[in-house]
Amino acid sequence: MKKISKKTKAYIDKLSLSIQEKHAHVRPLTASLQVNKWCNSKCEYCGIWKSPMMNPSLEDLTLAIDELSGLGVQMISLTGGEPFLHDKLPQIVEHMKAREVISSTMTNGLLLKPKYALPVLEAGLNSLCVSLDTVDPIAYKKIRGVPLSPILKGLKYISSIRREFPSFFVFSINCVISKVNIEHIPSLVEFCSELDISMGFQPLHRSFDSRHNPEELQFYEDDLPYLHKKIDDLIQMKQDGYRIDNNPAYLKGFPEFLVNKELPGGTVCSAGFTTISVDYKLDVRSCWPMKVVGNLHISKLKELWFSEEYDNKRASMLELNCPKCWLRCHTDYLSVQWLSDLLEKITRVKSNQPIIRHVKS
Ligand SMILES: C[S@@+](CC[C@H](N)C(=O)[O-])C[C@H]1O[C@@H](n2cnc3c(N)ncnc32)[C@H](O)[C@@H]1O
Ligand code: SF4
Ligand code: SF4
Repeated sequence: MKKISKKTKAYIDKLSLSIQEKHAHVRPLTASLQVNKWCNSKCEYCGIWKSPMMNPSLEDLTLAIDELSGLGVQMISLTGGEPFLHDKLPQIVEHMKAREVISSTMTNGLLLKPKYALPVLEAGLNSLCVSLDTVDPIAYKKIRGVPLSPILKGLKYISSIRREFPSFFVFSINCVISKVNIEHIPSLVEFCSELDISMGFQPLHRSFDSRHNPEELQFYEDDLPYLHKKIDDLIQMKQDGYRIDNNPAYLKGFPEFLVNKELPGGTVCSAGFTTISVDYKLDVRSCWPMKVVGNLHISKLKELWFSEEYDNKRASMLELNCPKCWLRCHTDYLSVQWLSDLLEKITRVKSNQPIIRHVKS
């Protein structure tokens, strides 16, 4: 493991104390903010595109950003729905920049065209993550219900202009592993490698509202040996130098999660201390699958964060008395190494030394 700074060590020590005492001595480092509930894709594993359009006002979203940054959140990931369908996305990013919060957004990639992408990059976006499960057009259409070609075109376009934006320091894809795309992982890894895009993987989850759980994407008990082999191959690709961001320990949890929805023995989930989720209604959750703790129209975030109710939620989370997920943004991001890298990145960005990694190593 790399050497960690004093600041990182201080955060990790306070986090350990928080876990021991089941009481928050730390503020969250990261947050997920749902900027809308509305979508132009038709993914098999997500029901959002079937919901009526919900597009919160800029005022509501700036209120959420102010509350999150006031609490100490250093990086906010904008999610949706599809964030690029929010016509105020550049202003949302600008507001994060003004609050000195690292800005990140996820997208299905359908709107990565100059008209939509340039204003967001010009506003100072730091990190862009495009969902890309496969580069096989048939499998892509089967999983996400729309054609692949506009997404590949968008990725190539962003790749060609990213050097013009010094504060844009992470360009990545997120791939959801399911039965339909698992065979296509090597070609996806090669494609991203050619464009020097970093990659993250996440296992398919059964939707928590249980309405959208397509059977053809699922794995079953008989698939376990094959799945272990595929995940070992993926870890090998990471060891071979491909830019795969996940921790090997996180990837090793995929087979059992994909088949039995089980987390590795001994898992302690500290997401309740390090991250926080706010939805389009400004409802606050300790992680996406947990129930609402409060609403930012009614309560101040600091009061919620330090409340007894929140501590009770964290205690349940630590013991996995929760819906159990293996979501990248909650469970992969808990390792000391990940927290340490994030804190180092934040220090560099805030001291105006952007981390630009555009050149292949
Ligand atoms: C809900 S989407 C919102 C952002 C944007 N619409 C997109 O697709 O990137 C955030 C991420 O969750 C992933 N996702 C959605 N449903 C999932 C499921 N059932 N299991 C695992 N990941 C899922 C998506 O592929 C995407 O990478
Ligand atoms: S995963 Fe993203 S792109 Fe797909 S339907 Fe859900 S919100 Fe839309
Ligand atoms: S494992 Fe449980 S507590 Fe942790 S993030 Fe997932 S649902 Fe939340």
